Order: sequence, then structure tokens, then C-alpha cells
Amino acid sequence: MGTTVIRGGLVITAADETNADILIEAGRVTALAARDSEVARAWAESADRVIDATGRYVIPGGVDAHTHMELPFGGTFASDTFETGTRAAAWGGTTTIVDFAVQTVGESLRSGLDAWHAKADGRCAVDYAFHMILSDVNEDTLKEMDGLVDEGVTSFKLFMAYPGVFYSDDGKILRAMQRSAGNGGLIMMHAENGIAIDVLVEQALAAGRTDPRYHGEVRHTLLEAEATHRAIQLARVAGAPLYVVHVSAQEAVAELAQARDMGLNVFGETCPQYLFLSTDNLAEPDFEGAKYVCSTPLRPREHQAYLWRGLRTNDLQVVSTDHCPFCFKGQKELGLGDFSKIPNGLPGVENRMDLLHQAVVDGHISRRRWIEIACATPARMFGLYPRKGTIAPGADADIVIYDPDAAQVLSAETHHMNVDYSAYEGRTVTGRVQTVLSRGEVVVDDRSYTGRAGHGRYIARETCQYLG
Ligand code: URP
Ligand code: ZN
Ligand code: ZN
Repeated sequence: MGTTVIRGGLVITAADETNADILIEAGRVTALAARDSEVARAWAESADRVIDATGRYVIPGGVDAHTHMELPFGGTFASDTFETGTRAAAWGGTTTIVDFAVQTVGESLRSGLDAWHAKADGRCAVDYAFHMILSDVNEDTLKEMDGLVDEGVTSFKLFMAYPGVFYSDDGKILRAMQRSAGNGGLIMMHAENGIAIDVLVEQALAAGRTDPRYHGEVRHTLLEAEATHRAIQLARVAGAPLYVVHVSAQEAVAELAQARDMGLNVFGETCPQYLFLSTDNLAEPDFEGAKYVCSTPLRPREHQAYLWRGLRTNDLQVVSTDHCPFCFKGQKELGLGDFSKIPNGLPGVENRMDLLHQAVVDGHISRRRWIEIACATPARMFGLYPRKGTIAPGADADIVIYDPDAAQVLSAETHHMNVDYSAYEGRTVTGRVQTVLSRGEVVVDDRSYTGRAGHGRYIARETCQYLG
């Protein structure tokens, strides 16, 4: 691989916006120099490749810290494989994903992790890492956590929801938190009171309330807030940091804000679906609402303002997708006549960077905050920084040339995710990925895919970089 120069663009990181040219050698950023400076001109003259970014933004590749390629759920599997899902990620300007390896109940963490390596190895278009889902907390798996942290799987997801599947009770949660307090791991929490939700599910179905919209009603905002509060208190007792995933309810944001005001190491993530979609979508007729079934669920539109506010005040730090696609035909349809059988999850890995740029256009966040919540902070949170999440000497040359003025219409007709619908069908957004580099290799070249399965490498992560 020779030298590449990106010239003429506005380089945006979480910290700065500068008119700079970038020199890339051996897959890494070697240096930045002022646009048109003598040194930058000399680079361009001797470079093997010069990419013209005039009039474009030059941003770090996105880091999506929450994806579920091929996740087994509800009797089926998420429809994107590591191959199709990471290709779609590249198309959307995301150059690193952190996916969730799953421990099967009764089996070891190791066998779950090995299975996820086998699914991903040699198939990814962009770099990837793993969190581990703890489905079965016991003496053996607690011990295994230490080894996983040492080898770069430094975060563990626990579920207060889904009794009988991924659910852990408070005792198990406390034990896992105590272990992570000792080994440097970060507990990621799906915070919903699943035991109470299951009662409401049973009652709704018995009363004939079977449509997708009832998925949102039974997963009450207060049951998200209550679980968020409980998770925070358990983390305090354990002396452990906590990262709450897919926060959707205003009341849950308030719990996080209160904890952070107390100076606790409590972090929160939300997702584009909670920022841009609502219970109006869940209520779409003819079972179309099933397309929007995910957990935590979409909330009434009023919650969006609190999520945007949380992102501005840093009570929420990260926007990930929770990309977990199921086709409408044949997969979402498993829940016809019973909303509780609709596989939970939405597609979005390809749309995140664009939707968050639209938030810049709409005035919700600044350009640098866009990069912070979509690139830099997820990289720091999950031990990938500064290799990922920024453009700086020594960083991997994961870089997106972004056209801030191009209009595009999001649609299943044109997206690259392996799913037969778009959650954002027909929505016009301003801004579009033009060219993408992954470790210096051009994987999307002026809207043509030039990547390959197997280019993406597994990354062993450091521990959370927000902790002392
Ligand atoms: O609905 C969702 N979020 N599906 C994926 C699994 C999870 O809870 O993150
Ligand atoms: Zn979850
Ligand atoms: Zn998830």
C-alpha cells in the first residue's frame, strides 16, 4: 500500500475543525498539514493517490458500539451476516463495529466467543470487536470474565429484561458488577423490568390486545426508569462503572442525569430510532408497526426532545444503532396475532452517520458533537481510542469523505443492509457518504463499493478510557 493524501477538505474531529490535508502511510495517518501549505503540496506531488475532498467534510470513520449480526432471537436470526452487515456499515461511513457475542445458558463464555469469532472471521468489510452477553452468571463464568478482559473483550452486557432467555436477577447482576469492578470490565445494561413487563404482556394478550403497538404499551417508560435506577444502585454497591444501552425514555435519562450529577461513572447510549421514530410508527396499520418493534421500545414523540437534550448536556454520551434487522416477510410476521412473538430489533447500521448529520442540519447538535457521539466517545468508551474515532497522527486511517450538501432519500430500494424494509423509508436527509477508507484502503470510492469481505480485522480492545 503506497501513500495517500486527502486534500482540500474540512477535517472535523470531536476536538477541532481545520482546513487540513492528511498524509496516510501504511494504513495510518502520518501527519496533517495546513491546506495548501508547502508541506501539503509536496505530499500531494509524491503521493501514490490523491483524494480530492474540496467542499467536503473529512471525518473519522464511525464507531458503532452496538450491533447484532446474525443474532439468534425469537426463533430466528438477525438477517445481516457479518459480511452483509459490515458492508452496509462501510456504505454508511461506519468503519468499526462492536458486536455482541452471546453466551448460551449452560455453556461457557469461551464457547460463545469462539462461535462469534467463527461467524465473523474472514467475512468483515470493516474492523470489528466484541462485547460479551452474559446469559448465565455463575462461579465459572465470573472467573472467565477476567480472562476475557485480558484478551480484549472488555465489556459485558446483562439483561434485566427477557426472563427465560437472557435475563439475570439482581443477585447475578451484583456479582457480575463486583467482578467487573475488580477486573476493569464495563457492564452494559439492558435496563427494563422484564418480570413486570411479562405480566403486562400476558394481560394484554388475554384481553385481545395483540397488535404491534401494544409492544410499546406494555414496556412502560416507568419500567425502563425503574430498572435504570436499580442498575445504578447495584453498580454503586458494587463500586463498578455502568453503561446503560438503548435509552429511550425521558424518565430513564433523568435517572442517568441524577447519577452523573452525583459524580458516578454512569454512562448512557441512545439510538437513532429513539431520536427519529416514535409510537406513531408502532401504531402503523396492517401489521406494519412490527417493523418498529425493538426493546427498549419506541416512545411517544415527546421523549425525543429529552434525548436530544441529554446528548447536548452529555447525560447521554453515545449514539449506537442496536442494529438487529429482521425481514418483515417471514421474520417480523412470526408475531402476526401476538406482538410478543415479533422478533425485537431494527436495522440501522448504514443510516446512523447520515441521521446524525441531519441532526446537525436540524440544529440539535454541533458538527463536533456529531463526531463525538458517533466516533470519538464510543471509541474511548470501549477502549479503541485513538486508533479509532479520530483523525490524528498514529490513528488508523479510517476516514470518511462526507458531502454535507447532497440530498438522499433513505429507502430499502437503495440501502445495502440485508433486510426488506427501511425504518426510515422515504425520509430525505441532507448529507451523504462519498468515499470511505478503512486502514488506508478505499472501501467506498465515490459511491462505488471497492471493499472486500475479509479486509476487516478483529480488534482486541483496551478497557474503558473514561475510568481512572
Ligand atoms: O430490540 C432489540 N434491541 N434487539 C436486540 C437485542 C437487544 O436487546 O439489544
Ligand atoms: Zn438490549
Ligand atoms: Zn442490542
